[in-house]
Amino acid sequence: MTVSISTTNGHANRHTNDLKHHLKRSPEFGFSTRAIHIGSEPDPTTGAVIPPISLSTTYKQDEVGVHKGFEYSRSGNPNRDALERTLVGLEAGAGHAIAFASGSATTATILQSLGPNAHVLSVNDVYGGTFRYITRVAKETTGTESTFIDLENTTDDEILAAMKDNTKLIWIESPTNPTLRLIDIPRIVSLARQAPSKPLVLVDNTFLSPFYGSPLLQGADIVIHSLTKYINGHSDVVMGAAIVPSLSTPDRDYDSLVQKLRFLQNAHGAVPSAFDCWLAQRGAKTLAVRMKAHGLNALRVASFLTSHPAVEHVIYPGLVSHPLHALARTFLSTLPPSTLAHGIPYGGMVSFRLRGGARSAEALLPKLKLFTLAESLGGVESLAELPARMTHASIPPAEREALGIEGLVRLSCGIEEAEDLVDDLRGAVGWAGGRG
Ligand SMILES: Cc1ncc(COP(=O)(O)O)c(C=O)c1O
Repeated sequence: MTVSISTTNGHANRHTNDLKHHLKRSPEFGFSTRAIHIGSEPDPTTGAVIPPISLSTTYKQDEVGVHKGFEYSRSGNPNRDALERTLVGLEAGAGHAIAFASGSATTATILQSLGPNAHVLSVNDVYGGTFRYITRVAKETTGTESTFIDLENTTDDEILAAMKDNTKLIWIESPTNPTLRLIDIPRIVSLARQAPSKPLVLVDNTFLSPFYGSPLLQGADIVIHSLTKYINGHSDVVMGAAIVPSLSTPDRDYDSLVQKLRFLQNAHGAVPSAFDCWLAQRGAKTLAVRMKAHGLNALRVASFLTSHPAVEHVIYPGLVSHPLHALARTFLSTLPPSTLAHGIPYGGMVSFRLRGGARSAEALLPKLKLFTLAESLGGVESLAELPARMTHASIPPAEREALGIEGLVRLSCGIEEAEDLVDDLRGAVGWAGGRG
């Protein structure tokens, strides 16, 4: 193959440099423009518009220690680097992103970075795997203490009283998984700033994705994502990321935090493959169009379920009837141009409870045809699950009961035609509703 390197290269380099320069200086670029262009500049060597996948595990050094930024693929890889730049472009307020082998590896590395005998204050309705890591792995290996509280309904004084001298981290999910409780992030940030131990505030933003939620702009110190979900969006990659702001303060040294996380990641090798990074970056380019469709479908599904006689309770923060709907509106990073009378799109997750309870819920799930009975969320295809028996089985039964997880059905609304999803639910809910 003959390649006219000089012409193509010159043009590509100029274009790449101009674009990089322009994007850096242009916060006015919209979400999708950033998603498509940042981190995905044409390849300077060949002009390839889509970045090549760099499978090499090692990189030539011109002299000892003189290289082009990469030495060995565990410590850094061009595709990981490119994806991390895309993530910084997507998450408003971000300065650094670190991509990990999974959302769980991200969680583990952050908890390790706290050192021995730290205390973590967490929202009680947290992803089951996060609860398991904190209460079993971190507790057994680094003596991590934890307190799980209802950050939605607890008073400021109660939250302050729950913080100890060794509280180093506050863990938030909002909306929570699977009961979709909303946490007032700026309130928790302001309480954290008052605590003598100055804990970092982390928000797991997996459910909203950077399209609907911007916790760093609300004062959070770390955002994490299971990229496995909306950011990749096609149910074919397991990955995670930690994202932190750029500007350190006297209290918060984000550069050191990033260095520590990268050091730990390299030391235990929780790194994603080049191919997975490439796939996740490809997925991220369509995040905005997917999230709009997920949100509209979820709103339609939630409205339909609300009107069904066999359904006892529907939880979707975008519905006007959700008790904290006003909070959802306040913090929405991208307010839809036309708001609908009954609500607004607010992510793709809907939870509901049938009047017939857990037995009806179990009967319902295999009857669905378009909603596949499966764990996970955030893919283009709709999924349905029973958290108490599946994603949240690691939470003790008494706590599941107290949190309202027992008998709850969780839907991840995909981007199929909304009316097809409603028809699927209409048939199965009607059938299962009578079988309590
Ligand atoms: C909210 C949330 N955070 C973190 C994780 C863990 O991510 P991963 O499965 O990529 O390890 C999940 C997985 O379901 C999740 O739902």
